[in-house]
Amino acid sequence: MIRSIRTFLLFNLFLSVTLVSLLTIIGNLFLEHRNFQTHLDSQLTLAAYTIRAFISSDMPAQQVKKIQKRMNHIPEYMHTLNFKYDEEIDDLNLLLKSIQFQIWSHDGKLILHSFAAPQLESQDMSNGFHNIVFQEHTWRAFALNLTDSQIKIVVFQRDHLRAELERQITEDSIAIMMVTYPFLALLIWIIVGRGLASITSTAEAIKRRAPNKLNNIETQDTPQELLPLIEALNALFNRLSEAFAREKRFASNAAHELRTPLAVLSTQTQVAMESKDVTHMRAALKKVLKSINRSTHVVQQLLTLSRLVPDDSINEPSRVNLKTIASEMIIELLPLADKKNISIALVAPDSDTSILGNKTALLILLRNLIDNALRYSPENTEVSVKIENFEYQIALSVIDNGPGISEEFRQRVFERFFRVLGTQTEGSGLGLNIVKQIVDLHKGSIELITPKTHSGLEIKITLWKDFNQPDPLI
Ligand SMILES: Nc1ncnc2c1ncn2[C@@H]1O[C@H](COP(=O)(O)OP(=O)(O)OP(=O)(O)O)[C@@H](O)[C@H]1O
Ligand SMILES: [Mg+2]
Repeated sequence: MIRSIRTFLLFNLFLSVTLVSLLTIIGNLFLEHRNFQTHLDSQLTLAAYTIRAFISSDMPAQQVKKIQKRMNHIPEYMHTLNFKYDEEIDDLNLLLKSIQFQIWSHDGKLILHSFAAPQLESQDMSNGFHNIVFQEHTWRAFALNLTDSQIKIVVFQRDHLRAELERQITEDSIAIMMVTYPFLALLIWIIVGRGLASITSTAEAIKRRAPNKLNNIETQDTPQELLPLIEALNALFNRLSEAFAREKRFASNAAHELRTPLAVLSTQTQVAMESKDVTHMRAALKKVLKSINRSTHVVQQLLTLSRLVPDDSINEPSRVNLKTIASEMIIELLPLADKKNISIALVAPDSDTSILGNKTALLILLRNLIDNALRYSPENTEVSVKIENFEYQIALSVIDNGPGISEEFRQRVFERFFRVLGTQTEGSGLGLNIVKQIVDLHKGSIELITPKTHSGLEIKITLWKDFNQPDPLI
């Protein structure tokens, strides 16, 4: 994990730039070597042809001598020139020595030569370039045999001087690089710092927020790279404010729903306390117990509701066999069924009836549906739980012989706290709302149907076998 983005960027950028620069210099050294040699060769050629333009064999010997004399004095002239730095004289001397020449007559006599020309014997050099060794030094030479004027011009350059020039250029570029590097580091440090300033300012903005302020952070001035982080934070804020809202709703719903049973509790406890007759007291205490049970049920339902996050995806979905969990739930609710002498039948195919979903949520769904069917059905009737297997879906129906729900209330029964008027059975009006949320969570559908053969209600839930990949045709 990177501890400081700034140091990380500075170090790595600096390292990369150094590496690339060094590679460029090395590359130049190899690739430009040939160009440089050609360039120096061209200087030799130019010098030879320039000398040729000025010198001819029929020049009077006196004049030639004069020129030679002046040539020999060149180093002295150099010292009369004004230079700001000694290095400049050194450089110039080096360059002066760089190119030397000799002019030979047709009969092998040295007519003229530069002041530092090598004392080579006349050589039979053909026209063009030659590499010659003289006094352990390698020289690059260019010879020009002039048949018309019958003289031979040879221009030389010490290989070592050529290499020296090349080395100096390379050294200079490395030196420039070294001098500019501290500035480069400083620039990278400042630029990276400025780039990262937006992180600091965003952090400051978040720090300054009041704890209950969970609205989204503005993103219009946010740099592109920070957008995913801000968006993730905004999503977190949304979830948090949803969670806060749920907690708030839970608290106010609980307060609202518990007011009546708690009032009943208080009254009946008082009645029980004041009563001297044991039967009377028992009856009051029975009501207290009923009130406690009702309150417990309401709290349970409200908790279930607050834990189901609407629009949220299912956490850790797993394969749930509807046949298995239906029979589990039937067994759990058998005491309730026995009390009213209701028989519960499970009608399911032999094939695999498992779907991808949340087992706890699906158990809550089944409990609420079977619980409704048992509580709203008259005694001595039958409730059936039917499972049907389709290609991509599985349907789960709970059918009873109760009063059913009339058309006008079929939409409203899914609202929170909605109860059909005149229902003698106790309840909090939250069960079907919970069922609807669980079905939505699984991207399924829900239908209220009147059974064809008898009065009552069939609640049919259709769920995808894999809610992530529903039927490709739909
Ligand atoms: N099987 C059913 N037969 C007839 N009416 C039903 C049936 N199921 C639900 N209802 C009606 O729909 C209303 C809403 O049902 P829901 O399950 O949401 O709440 P509840 O049963 O009153 O309370 P809770 O389930 O929270 O204890 C019920 O009050 C009832 O009037
Ligand atoms: Mg219910």
